[in-house]
Amino acid sequence: MFIENITIAPRFSPKERAVIYQGDCLKFLKDIPDGSFQLIVTSPPYNIGKKYEEKLHLDQYIQQQRSVITECYRVLRSTGSICWQVGNYVDKSSIIPLDTILYPIFSDLNMKMRNRIVWHFEHGLHASKRFSGRYETIMWFTKTDDYVFNLDNVRVPQKYPGKKYFKGPKVGQYSSNPLGKNPSDLWIFPNVKSNHPEKTVHPCQFPIELVERLVLALTNQDDWVFDPFLGVGTTTVAAILRNRRGAGAEVLAEYVKIAKERVKMTVAGTLPRRPMQRPVFDPKDAGSHLTTAPWLTNTSDGGQMVLLDKLKRKYSTD
Ligand SMILES: C[S@@+](CC[C@H](N)C(=O)[O-])C[C@H]1O[C@@H](n2cnc3c(N)ncnc32)[C@H](O)[C@@H]1O
Repeated sequence: MFIENITIAPRFSPKERAVIYQGDCLKFLKDIPDGSFQLIVTSPPYNIGKKYEEKLHLDQYIQQQRSVITECYRVLRSTGSICWQVGNYVDKSSIIPLDTILYPIFSDLNMKMRNRIVWHFEHGLHASKRFSGRYETIMWFTKTDDYVFNLDNVRVPQKYPGKKYFKGPKVGQYSSNPLGKNPSDLWIFPNVKSNHPEKTVHPCQFPIELVERLVLALTNQDDWVFDPFLGVGTTTVAAILRNRRGAGAEVLAEYVKIAKERVKMTVAGTLPRRPMQRPVFDPKDAGSHLTTAPWLTNTSDGGQMVLLDKLKRKYSTD
């Protein structure tokens, strides 16, 4: 794939290919002309007290999100999409799914929700007083009914591509689309934890492949993709990788520096990354010995055996 030797501009101009602004996204947005961006993808702060956010009262947080979303709506093209990726706000061990409280902001703007995509991943905190959280959502909204959606760009392999019609006029022909199937609204991508090739110091960066799928489906070549809460630049990286243009704002200098380095490495073809379509690692298939519980094979491990016996008795139905 060909990527031009681009420079990273600090301010927006339609002629640039990559723009990274250090500072508050609302300040950046105020100078952007209406209808500039084809796609806006972001994961905003969740208001849970991470190092980069001041924990606000929930009403204040919603108001702050409303200001940013309203500006994003203004700078979005009429054929464009906004994808707001969120998890839970947690207050005294009680969870509030952020999509439920942010949805009204988009509907007040008369935006149309096209999907609420569930992003499932396998690693995270182990909860002890509720089930451990293993998904977040991406709310996809369009500005109008006339929106870009390139499904063929993001089809995935079928489970049974060899299936044929068994009756009717097409009997004997292959029944599935040779380009693959619709990836559906349940997306399984590993989250970026310590052994992920894309991991940086940022505590919650996007996997590139997640943004890449949105970029491929919701934009055309050379379109602008904007992220108001850019972090370490994953959205810009995905845009540049796919020959689109990328703009973003980030308050923390440390993350801006990494974002710029990652964009430069993308252009040079040296950014470590997990490629799209790579199957999720299965330790059993890979033959890892750690997938066999030692207490099932090693009878000398008295401690674990005692625990196992206790459990067996507890759940026994005899
Ligand atoms: C959830 S992280 C996004 C991570 C990003 N998706 C990535 O892949 O690196 C949210 C980011 O928003 C930044 N941020 C918080 N408030 C901001 C604001 N008002 N304007 C711009 N960036 C902000 C934080 O510093 C943080 O890096």
